Amino acid sequence: MAHETEIYDVVGIGFGPSNLSLAIALEESPDPVTSLFFERQPTLGWHRGMLLPSAKMQVSFLKDLATFRNPASGFGFISYLHDMGRLTRFVNNQDFFPTRREFHDYLEWAASKLTGRVSYDSEVTAVSAVAAAGEGPADRVRVTVRGADGAPRQVEARNVVISTGLVPRMPVNLEAGERVWHSSEFLHRFRQREGELTRVAVVGAGQSAAEIVRFLYDTLPEVRVSAVIPSFGYAIADDTPFANQVFDPDAVDSYYHGTQASKDAVWQYHKNTNYSVVDDEVIRGLYERAYEDELSGHGRLDFRNLARVLDAEPTGDGTRITVYSLVDDASYDLDVDVLICATGYDPMNPARVLGELDKYCVHDTEGRHRVDRDYRLVTTSDLTCGIYLQGGTEHTHGLGSSLLSNIAVRSGDIAQSITARCAGAPKKGLTA
Ligand code: FDA
Ligand code: NAP
Repeated sequence: MAHETEIYDVVGIGFGPSNLSLAIALEESPDPVTSLFFERQPTLGWHRGMLLPSAKMQVSFLKDLATFRNPASGFGFISYLHDMGRLTRFVNNQDFFPTRREFHDYLEWAASKLTGRVSYDSEVTAVSAVAAAGEGPADRVRVTVRGADGAPRQVEARNVVISTGLVPRMPVNLEAGERVWHSSEFLHRFRQREGELTRVAVVGAGQSAAEIVRFLYDTLPEVRVSAVIPSFGYAIADDTPFANQVFDPDAVDSYYHGTQASKDAVWQYHKNTNYSVVDDEVIRGLYERAYEDELSGHGRLDFRNLARVLDAEPTGDGTRITVYSLVDDASYDLDVDVLICATGYDPMNPARVLGELDKYCVHDTEGRHRVDRDYRLVTTSDLTCGIYLQGGTEHTHGLGSSLLSNIAVRSGDIAQSITARCAGAPKKGLTA
């Protein structure tokens, strides 16, 4: 019997908010296409390691999976609230920024309506080029997936959309392990050790660092927290209205079509909307705690300003970190139970997923992928299938590339581009 190959118009790699939003855009498209999304986690999980109880969203609830593309969508946050019977109380609360826990619940609710389009416990391990006719340019991509049982599965796609997310970044010289954690795995690690923690250091001055310091201080009444901060103090995330326009859907056009000088200016002036900055409310809350802490004489909050962590050595039941102080240009050691590196993330790099397929991609003079306005990678004429990116387009599409702000509209752009490309292509899910 002939072996049947599964062929889809679209295969999505990763099923976080970006590709979930794309699945919704495809679901609502008047031009149906066949699609399947692969997600390596066993269920939908949006930065679960940082799902701290009081952490709030950093974007308005209206910038959800669908509303900016289709305000009448049944997948918007308001539909979710209505379904849950909380719409009235949510409105009474008068807050544009729900907790991350509630937004996570919303994402799960939306994903549960699309179970037929996604395969969980499925890690994409390789992609390669296929020419349907056996020769000529590659017009399909073969996607190899490892399932929960370790068994490989292969499918083919006329278009792939890569959305594998940010990559945790450790400080130079440090490796994550039992006593040195990256913030992305914080809650998982914390639950294993919370009973034994008395002294913890948290490195970084971004939102993750500030939220973890606050959480540790509030959750463990005996713990002493050393916050190692590269700046003089936590700096505020600019979410004022004019600056916030940098995340508007229209801003993508002016960034994309702008000169390199205008792109550089956007980063120079507006990096503080997102990177190495903290929400006003969190900063003020932490300062109040620091004041109370000093007043009570407990000394549980210990801020090491203008400092960086250079090294960490295991000491048996803890870790000895080397802290460099810019103030006196000197280093000193600090013994802690664990060191938490809230040191940020690198952008998604599609080359990690593309492997040998990357040789078909066109790069600019700085070695970065060239990307069309519709988020499709520019490829040589040897590869004609579509490879699209959700993330990793900071150099072409701007500051919002790794954020939620624009995912509804971006997903709509990608869905439209794919359906236009697929017009006329056979719609069957399986071919012999
Ligand atoms: P995301 O990382 O969410 O999803 C990628 C998915 O791909 C993951 O589920 C991963 O398991 C999967 N995957 C990876 N490799 C795979 C493979 N080989 N095979 C199969 N699956 C694979 N932004 C914002 O605008 N507002 C906010 O409030 C926040 N809050 C926030 C909190 C925290 C703690 C962080 C770290 C980041 C944010 N962000 C944010 C930014 C964040 O990038 C954004 O919220 C989304 O996670 C982006 O969604 P994506 O789907 O692009 O990536
Ligand atoms: P980030 O904003 O990139 O901040 C990383 C911090 O680590 C910076 O202050 C950086 O300093 C510092 N750092 C790096 N190496 C260091 C070293 N060796 N010693 C001392 N400090 C060091 O990362 P993030 O806080 O994880 O935030 C990432 C994204 O997630 C942002 O978009 C953020 O908004 C989002 N987030 C959202 C929530 C939420 O929704 N509630 C929660 C957490 C995170 P330099 O600037 O000097 O490099």
